[in-house]
Amino acid sequence: MKRKLLDYLRCPSCAGPIVWASVTSTEGPEIIEGRLVCDACARSFPIVRGIPRFASPEKGEADKAATAENFGWQWQHFVQSDALYADQFLGWIAPVRPEFFQGKVVLEGGCGKGRHTQLAASWGARDVIGVDLSDAVETAFAATRKLENAHVVQADIYHLPFARTFDYAFSVGVLHHLPDPQAGFRSLASKVKAGGHLSAWVYGSENNEWIMRFVDPLREKFSSRIDRRLLLHLSKAPTVLLYLATKLIYGPLNGSNGSSRLARHLFYNDYLSAISQFGWREQHTIVFDHLVAPTSHYIRQDDFEEWWRAIEAKDLTIGWHNKNSWRGFGQIKE
Ligand SMILES: C[S@@+](CC[C@H](N)C(=O)[O-])C[C@H]1O[C@@H](n2cnc3c(N)ncnc32)[C@H](O)[C@@H]1O
Ligand SMILES: [Zn+2]
Repeated sequence: MKRKLLDYLRCPSCAGPIVWASVTSTEGPEIIEGRLVCDACARSFPIVRGIPRFASPEKGEADKAATAENFGWQWQHFVQSDALYADQFLGWIAPVRPEFFQGKVVLEGGCGKGRHTQLAASWGARDVIGVDLSDAVETAFAATRKLENAHVVQADIYHLPFARTFDYAFSVGVLHHLPDPQAGFRSLASKVKAGGHLSAWVYGSENNEWIMRFVDPLREKFSSRIDRRLLLHLSKAPTVLLYLATKLIYGPLNGSNGSSRLARHLFYNDYLSAISQFGWREQHTIVFDHLVAPTSHYIRQDDFEEWWRAIEAKDLTIGWHNKNSWRGFGQIKE
């Protein structure tokens, strides 16, 4: 944890100021072991392996704990990086472009292995803080510790340990895994300054009926409950099919000159052509990610729009991404 992160922290229980209680080990600019304390209510929070810990997943409600445990394992296994992440990220947060990050104080809700925290920092954010409930923070910290404007915090998106200080907050692929997605969205929005901006990307209900009907029962009753090493191996079977389909059919039929007429009639073409450039490992991550989640909600467009109306967001842009998910970008009211 870098010292300047303290400026952004507030007690998640009482919003009181956070101060140092002790620093027992440092490495260069990072405080590796120590303790923070709330000046108002005296609740204290350990810094362990360089990360301030405001929540421990195993102490939360059972559904949140199971989600954090499975994703924690996933992001400590699939630690790879990919040159395609930047474009993929920009697709999820459009119309935001890299220049938008310049000089902004940014919050990421559910940072996983930290790939987007890393990109936001490299695109010139003043400071970017990636928050995750799970042990994925260990991977995110390792991936970002060399960037002086990147920070990682272990906390629950429902109880964020910050004041309302962010110029921009975003959350990609997280809210639909929460027991109450809209409450997570509201919590994230509550940390953005008046006039600041917010992005969210969630699974859509439209066009995903086949997943809800055939994949979800399998995910809920089986794949999210079995040993993760076993799932790692079993998930290679559907990945083989996905890999062959994207490399032999969807990729070639959606070449650099645009999609052929035939491609436009293929099942799930927009999404499968979008991931066709990824190699085996990334496609395996995608399949594993879908099967490991204990909770997944598929959000309808009108419900997603209602989230934004409820926070009275201005200049809202909602987009149907790859015809299977919703992305939103809006301004927080003054
Ligand atoms: C599918 S991953 C997406 C990670 C990252 N946004 C990305 O796109 O690479 C979902 C992440 O949400 C995190 N998460 C789940 N519930 C959470 C909660 N209550 N608070 C904070 N993070 C949570 C998980 O630990 C996991 O890392
Ligand atoms: Zn407090």
